Amino acid sequence: MSATIAATDLAFQQCLNPDCGSTFEVDRTYFSCPTCGDLIDVVYDWDRVRVPRSMRDFESRWSERANPLNFSGVWRFRELLGFAPEGQIVTIGEGQTLLRAADKVGRYVGVGAGRFHLQYEGMNPSGSFKDNGMTAAFTHARMTGARRVACASTGNTSAALSVYCSATDFGFRAIIFIGSGKIAYGKLAQALDQGALTVQIVGDFDDAMQRVRQVADRLGVYLMNSVNPFRLEGQKTIMYRVLEAMRWEIPDWIVVPGGNLGNSSAFGKAFSELRTLGLIDRVPRLAVINASGARTLHELVGHRGLTWNDGRPDMASVQAYYDELDASGRKASTIASAIEINRPVNLKKCLRALEVCDGVVREVSDQEIMDAKAQVGSGGLGCEPASAASVAGAKRLREEGVIAPSDRVVCILTGHALKDPNATVAYHSGDREMFDHVLGIRGVRRAGFANKPVAVANDLDDIIRAIALYADAGPGLDAG
Ligand code: F0G
Repeated sequence: MSATIAATDLAFQQCLNPDCGSTFEVDRTYFSCPTCGDLIDVVYDWDRVRVPRSMRDFESRWSERANPLNFSGVWRFRELLGFAPEGQIVTIGEGQTLLRAADKVGRYVGVGAGRFHLQYEGMNPSGSFKDNGMTAAFTHARMTGARRVACASTGNTSAALSVYCSATDFGFRAIIFIGSGKIAYGKLAQALDQGALTVQIVGDFDDAMQRVRQVADRLGVYLMNSVNPFRLEGQKTIMYRVLEAMRWEIPDWIVVPGGNLGNSSAFGKAFSELRTLGLIDRVPRLAVINASGARTLHELVGHRGLTWNDGRPDMASVQAYYDELDASGRKASTIASAIEINRPVNLKKCLRALEVCDGVVREVSDQEIMDAKAQVGSGGLGCEPASAASVAGAKRLREEGVIAPSDRVVCILTGHALKDPNATVAYHSGDREMFDHVLGIRGVRRAGFANKPVAVANDLDDIIRAIALYADAGPGLDAG
């Protein structure tokens, strides 16, 4: 099954704009089309790629886990992202993630027993889904001889980038850009611990993103944000693993939080390619969920009717919306700091994914996000606030009747609970000051599912009385 031709012969890069369509060799480095400035895709010559006849064939690689490429949950599917010679692949064992049936959370969402699943990407080495993309982008960086690698980040991209620099020995040096006060401490801690040069600029993610692109241009630094098309190639594999865990049955819905829209774009590309290859016979529907405080996609698609339009979306209406944001000084603001983004770089590719997957877009409030997050936690898997947007969004779509009770639903939990402990503790602790400081300023008013610590004197009788009083009550104590 392994490719015998140099993998780089099988792939090329192509501008997304059908009126341009410029193509480039796969080992060139562009983060936008040099001819027209649009996004770039990685495209394969599928007639020459030796793809297995059935998705089940990929599973046989589980028995060869001593081979790092088969151990990786990304490269196990390497024929489906065959842009790199095998000897160039940079892997740190990413993608050992879990799809779990979660009936308790499913009841909260409103779907039937056995129909609701959580895909837990927090199990990646850096604690978020980003590692799926980083392994592919670092592989490309290695192919091109890059050394300095940079990103702007709300935290997880920078954590993943830092981990790949520190865990490998190819001379990579991490430079990360973050907005001031815009990053959860768990994520900042990772970047600092791993030795990344951390540039904190006055501004938010959108400002940092603009700057890092300028810096990458000026200094020739390799850009690791999801404008890098190789990132998305790696993130396609999240969907392969979902299908694998579902015994290659296609779910009805994939629900994912939307920030910079890399994941949703990658998922659409994954399904479109699998269908082209005849490896699946239908695609699931895709739901992309914004936080209300960063609702660009929902506004443009849900309210202003923006569509893919065969690769020619109405970008003037997008610009008009951005101009409105600027004129009113509106900045993104949500407790789900990972998706606090108003200018998603992959907007166009996400429109294509929505077209491929008959997708829908919704927004959910910070209150809905924090309540859903508590449900995910008490249902057995923790997650950070942004991830819970998927569950809150599924609940919304169920209430609207868009998702049926019998539908098979997979929500993507994009990041680990420990990424943002402040939000979790503020919700559960019942400490009014902390609640107001961390959540209240984001419009969260209630902690309906709070599990408050019970304060008790250091006295055995008091402790035993407290246990008698509370042990059978379970979570759901009033935050007070
Ligand atoms: N969930 C988490 C936990 C994230 O960190 C991000 C993005 C998203 C969802 C949104 O994914 O961009 O593919 O739509 N975090 C980026 C970062 C922006 O810098 O870590 P997307």
